[in-house]
Amino acid sequence: MEGFSKVAQRSDITSAELKIVDVDGVQVVLTELNGAPIAFANLCTHEECDLGYGALDGEEIECDCHGSIFNVLSGEVLQGPATERLPVFAVRVDGDDVLVGPA
Ligand code: FES
Repeated sequence: MEGFSKVAQRSDITSAELKIVDVDGVQVVLTELNGAPIAFANLCTHEECDLGYGALDGEEIECDCHGSIFNVLSGEVLQGPATERLPVFAVRVDGDDVLVGPA
């Protein structure tokens, strides 16, 4: 992913929803945490299950497939079996536009 791409309206991003969007062929999860939009990879780094269908608990998301837990702000693996950190993406807000950039 190069540069920033407009992916959503700010008003469509809430903490109540994990929204999966395609950004230049990369599946990205958009949601809101602590009042700000965040973006992280949809595919678990273990065996590529969808994280966007899981539930966010604070800064942590657990993969439904085998229980890996990631910090969605740092990408850090908090619990295996995954060993590779989760890509997290830069987010900018421009008016009501939400833009996602490189990890
Ligand atoms: S695919 Fe996510 S823990 Fe295995």
